[in-house]
Amino acid sequence: MLVQATNRLQQASARSKSKHLFNRAKGVFPDGTTRATVEKDPFPIYAHRGEGAYLVDVDGNRLLDLNNNFTTLIHGHGFAPVSEAVADLLRSGTCFANPTEHEIALAELLTARIPAMERVRFVNSGTEAVMFAIKAARAFTGRPAIARIEGAYHGAYDWAEAGQGVSPGRDGWAPICVATPAYRGTPSSVADEVHLLRFNDVATLEARLSAGSKRIACVLIDPMPSRAGLLHPEPAFIEALAKMASKYGILIVADEVLNLRQGYAGASVRYGLKPDLITAGKIIGGGFPIGAIGGREEVMRVFGTEDAKPLLAQGGTFSANPVSMVAGRAAMEAMTPDAFDRLEAMGERLRAGLRARIARRDAPFSVTGAASFFRIHPKRLAPLEYRDAYLSTEEASLMRTMSRYFLEAGILLPYGAAACLSTPMVDSDIDLILGAFEEFLEAKIQSGKEHAQ
Ligand SMILES: Cc1ncc(COP(=O)(O)O)c(C=O)c1O
Repeated sequence: MLVQATNRLQQASARSKSKHLFNRAKGVFPDGTTRATVEKDPFPIYAHRGEGAYLVDVDGNRLLDLNNNFTTLIHGHGFAPVSEAVADLLRSGTCFANPTEHEIALAELLTARIPAMERVRFVNSGTEAVMFAIKAARAFTGRPAIARIEGAYHGAYDWAEAGQGVSPGRDGWAPICVATPAYRGTPSSVADEVHLLRFNDVATLEARLSAGSKRIACVLIDPMPSRAGLLHPEPAFIEALAKMASKYGILIVADEVLNLRQGYAGASVRYGLKPDLITAGKIIGGGFPIGAIGGREEVMRVFGTEDAKPLLAQGGTFSANPVSMVAGRAAMEAMTPDAFDRLEAMGERLRAGLRARIARRDAPFSVTGAASFFRIHPKRLAPLEYRDAYLSTEEASLMRTMSRYFLEAGILLPYGAAACLSTPMVDSDIDLILGAFEEFLEAKIQSGKEHAQ
């Protein structure tokens, strides 16, 4: 088995066109790519086209896509209703300084479905949505600081980034980590205004929010933080958050840029979280750039009212551009409650299948996720917080090996982030994933035995 696996890995180096493109790209991009999130092992796989649940790379390999552009493509690639709606629109102009009916239609769809979204504004990315949600919370409360969960990813706004990369020191984890600016040269004052919380840790939440109560404008929370481990929120944590926020007049900002994918009404509803502001992105653009900030009407008034100047001005050359609006509406209209249920059932079958294979071999792995998301951890116990999910060097290398196994089985499995399903997937695609995982576990057990000899 190990020999067979090694041979298959060697074939991976025959991805010649991707390799060639990467060499060319190094002449124009500082590290050969133009997104830090592009996976290189040792070079990126360049996409040629998409076909439903599959991506075809420039070397002609057809790969089951579990990345879906970082969970954006809930209908996979080339979804006809989106392509047709956008093609119709393109001939009549792609952007105007004037508003269009398309933005109203998408806003009506979202506000009708998502209880926390009484009013909404559109921007062009999840990063921008989180940035404006934080600014809105500050403008509403008149306070400068935020609290956020350590290890969680919320895009590239300085305050949203501080604390996303915390790691253990020589003596292990500090009981409470202090936020540090994500990058060299960022003013240290950024970190002074960021309080770190631990997911599912009620004691730290209570201590931090009461200590910072006068300065904290909002708690920024992803209901199931994916990069921090795709963690399940504990009801006690959600309850404590609601209690503390109400006690100190702190707003709750639910970052659902990724997790709105969890259902017709999004993720907060599912976990009993009642946010004052909510951010969205990814799936609501149907594969085109988008972000949205929504929330309680009273809070959203900071963006202005018919008769008052805004406390916070939000514009943007491409905000609410008709292409994203039309594409997003076509994609979201097709996401009926039945479509979400079908994805959820497929996700359940997959997670249960992965767990059964782990249990059968008593392998030191676990699986987290919900709805159409899953993540495999090289940990015996499913993580409850970022620290549990944090990978040692050996574990990180094992996860790389696993992604390579999947690739050789014709599957693109994201490394260190949430994997997701898409509506064009069928049962045989789930079987393919389960088969690849089974083979990986077998090979791992086999190589363990060889090492022991
Ligand atoms: C929870 C969350 N917030 C914000 C962002 C940033 O979104 P974008 O990449 O569209 O800027 C992401 C992106 O993955 C995300 O997962």
